[in-house]
Amino acid sequence: MSERVIPLIDQRLQTRAVPIPAQAIAATGQLRDARGRALRDLRISVTDRCNFRCSYCMPKEIFDKDYQYLPHSALLTFEEITRVAKVFVAHGVQKLRLTGGEPLLRKHLEILIEQLAALRTVDGAPLDITLTTNGSLLRRKAQALKDAGLQRVTVSLDGLDDAVFRAMNDVDFPVADVLDGIAAAQAVGLGPIKVNMVVKRGTNDDQILPMARHFKGSGVVLRFIEYMDVGATNGWRMDEVLPSAKVIERIHREMPLVPLEQAAEGETAQRWAYADGSGEIGVISSVTQAFCSDCNRARLSTEGQLYLCLFASEGHDLRHLIRGDASDEDLASAIASVWQPRADRYSELRASLPPDSTPGKRRVEMSYIGG
Ligand code: GTP
Ligand code: 5AD
Ligand code: SF4
Ligand code: SF4
Repeated sequence: MSERVIPLIDQRLQTRAVPIPAQAIAATGQLRDARGRALRDLRISVTDRCNFRCSYCMPKEIFDKDYQYLPHSALLTFEEITRVAKVFVAHGVQKLRLTGGEPLLRKHLEILIEQLAALRTVDGAPLDITLTTNGSLLRRKAQALKDAGLQRVTVSLDGLDDAVFRAMNDVDFPVADVLDGIAAAQAVGLGPIKVNMVVKRGTNDDQILPMARHFKGSGVVLRFIEYMDVGATNGWRMDEVLPSAKVIERIHREMPLVPLEQAAEGETAQRWAYADGSGEIGVISSVTQAFCSDCNRARLSTEGQLYLCLFASEGHDLRHLIRGDASDEDLASAIASVWQPRADRYSELRASLPPDSTPGKRRVEMSYIGG
């Protein structure tokens, strides 16, 4: 009989009200945290629901039929999201990523995308707007997303073998439908498309080479992600992590690779090109090679809590300001007062501890704040 594990603390309750600073902090696009890191990338979760149950993210034993998702009244409306995004943009954000859960489960998402696409950076440029999806609804929605102003998508896909993929998503979802979704996104020009594969040693690492062969030369950028100790429910163990160096080694043996320079500051992936010129791949190695030193990412939960790190145990409640009588200037000051003292560098700290240590067990779930 398997034991049912129920988290003792609901992470969503761990929030702190953000006061409006007495001294206004104007948005100049130059905001820096305590470690000198800019704020460039805002990830906005639009739902805490997902139709998949990937064991590393929403294990079935916890996210079962009794799990209490957020009520509709708790979710930020599209107008509220756009307003807060605009303030973040005034602080220097250049990239918006819509996430979930599964963001395509949020009704009429195209309307939000239209509103966000009208925003401009402090330099007057359009924002880089993208979305992370499991691809299950992509075939149906690709055209509408493109028409609304979405530029590109990142699709999560953990294997090509149907049986392996069905076991990874744990809802028996067929791989062919996700591949159709990717093809539809390509056809409407939602590119460059990235495919993210979380690698769990012993579960899907036999899919590394088939995935590399499949996407080589397709224009899709495949990225391998080290399985992370994110959240508190996935039972993470170091021996299930396959270091990215091994991934590169396996691919390089069959399909020679050459390293590429980092394309942008704060980038999560290390990039490699196929030596024969047929495209590139990436590895995201937050376990074996932490990339906190130039982390410029903030995360906004579905209900308006601001998280400064993927591994944070506490959010900063912006919704009470958004729904209160705070002006945009007040909001900007409040956000600055949260970012300025930020010193988070969880992955770096974990790397200096013994292999299976995961400090601070009370961590927010990835399905709640998104990738
Ligand atoms: P692009 O702009 O498309 O290159 O996106 P990105 O590199 O920001 O990556 P994406 O959002 O696709 O993130 C890929 C994966 O990297 C996520 O699913 C996470 O597993 C991991 N990741 C993203 N951001 C962070 C972060 O700030 N810290 C850690 N530890 N992992 C992250
Ligand atoms: N480790 C690494 N990546 C994860 N994701 C979710 N949980 C984990 C984890 N434990 C990533 C998936 C997906 C995105 C939504 O988050 O790759 O692309
Ligand atoms: Fe859903 Fe993505 Fe989490 Fe899988 S990784 S359960 S698809 S949100
Ligand atoms: Fe940024 Fe936290 Fe990830 Fe480090 S662990 S890169 S600080 S989100």
